[in-house]
Amino acid sequence: AHVSNSAEPKVVCVTGAAGQIAYSLLFNIARGDIYGPNQRVILHLLDIAPMMEALQGVVMELQDCSLPLLAGVEATSDPKVAFNNADAAILVGAMPRKEGMERKDLLRANAKIFKEQGDALNTVAKPSVKILVVGNPANTNALITLLHATSLPKENFSALTRLDHNRAIAQVALRVGVSVEKVRNVIIWGNHSSTQYPDVNHGEVEVGGQRKKIKDVIADEAWLHGDFIKTVQSRGGAIIKARKLSSAMSAAKAIVDHMHDWIQGTPEGEFVSMGVHSTGVYGIPAGLIYSFPVTCKNGTYTIVEGLPIDVFSRTKMTETADELVSEREDANQILSA
Ligand code: NAD
Ligand code: LMR
Repeated sequence: AHVSNSAEPKVVCVTGAAGQIAYSLLFNIARGDIYGPNQRVILHLLDIAPMMEALQGVVMELQDCSLPLLAGVEATSDPKVAFNNADAAILVGAMPRKEGMERKDLLRANAKIFKEQGDALNTVAKPSVKILVVGNPANTNALITLLHATSLPKENFSALTRLDHNRAIAQVALRVGVSVEKVRNVIIWGNHSSTQYPDVNHGEVEVGGQRKKIKDVIADEAWLHGDFIKTVQSRGGAIIKARKLSSAMSAAKAIVDHMHDWIQGTPEGEFVSMGVHSTGVYGIPAGLIYSFPVTCKNGTYTIVEGLPIDVFSRTKMTETADELVSEREDANQILSA
C-alpha cells in the first residue's frame, strides 16, 4: 500500500506499554486503526523501569511487524519523554484488579500514577492532546489526571466506557439474533464500575430491514431491567473469574473504537458512550468524569442532550453519580495523605 509521507506523523503515547492490554493494542494503532490508512504514527511507549527489558521485546516485535505507517518507536520510563509532543495519550498503565475486588479498590495503588502523569502531560504534551484513561478506576483516574493538568482544556480528557458500550451492543444483538452492526445508540451512563447504567431506552435495532426500538423488539422489561443490566455491569468480573486475568483483547478493541470515533467522527444519527467531564447536563454533578452519550465531529465530542429520562433511569443515573462523588472524596484523601 502507498502511504503519503507528506503529513507530519501523529505522536501516540501508550502507558503500561509492556502490559497485556498494550500487547493487543499497539499493533492496531501502528497499522492505522485510529488515525486511518494514510496517516503515519510515532509510538511513545511508557512503562516503569523494571519493565524496560520486556518493553524492548515489544519494540522489537513492532519493528518485525514491518508496518508502513509506523514512523518511529520510543520506549522510556520517563513520563516527560513519553508525553513529549503527544497528539494522543492512552493511559493504560496501572494495576489491574483481581477476583473479588471492585475497581475502586485500586485507587490506593493507582491514584498517584495519574497525579504524576497529569503533571507531566501539563508540561510537555500538545495543548490539543487527546487523553484516554483506561487504568482503573478509569473515571476517577481521569479526573485526577484532569485536575493535575491544569493548563489543558477539560474537553481533552476522557475515560473508557466504550468496552461497556460494546458489551451492551453484543448482549442485545445476541438476544435478538442479529449481528452487532444492526444495533445502535445504546448508552452507558456513569462510572466504569458495577453501578454503571446500561440503558437501551433510546437504542435501535434493525430487524428484517426495518429500524425499530430495542424496547419494542425485546418486549421483556424484566430482562432489560434485570439480567441485561447485571450482565453488562459484571462482565469485567466474569472475565477475571474465567481468565484469571482482566479483559485485554476486548479492552484494546474498545480503546481503538473510542479514539477512532473521537478523532474521525461518529456516523450520522449515531452516538457512542464516552466518560467525559460533566458540565451539569442531565442533572449530573458538574466536574465529575461521567459516561454520557456523545457524538463526535472534527475531533470534538458533544454530549447528546435532551433525551427523555424515565424514573427507573433517573434512579440508576443518580446511583452511579453518587459513587463517583465518593470515589472523588477517596482520591482526595489518598492524594493528600
Ligand atoms: P497489566 O498488569 O498487564 O499491565 C499494566 C502495565 O502498566 C504493566 O506493564 C506495569 O508495569 C505498567 N505500569 C504500572 N505503573 C506504571 C506507571 N506508573 N507508568 C507506566 N506504566 C506503569 O494490566 P492490563 O491488563 O494491561 O490492565 C491495565 C489497566 O487497565 C488496569 O488498571 C485494568 O484494570 C484496566 N482496564 C480498564 C478497562 C476499561 O474498560 N476501562 C478494561 C480493561 C482493563
Ligand atoms: C473490564 O471491564 O474488563 C476492566 O475494567 C477490567 C476489570 O477490572 O473488570
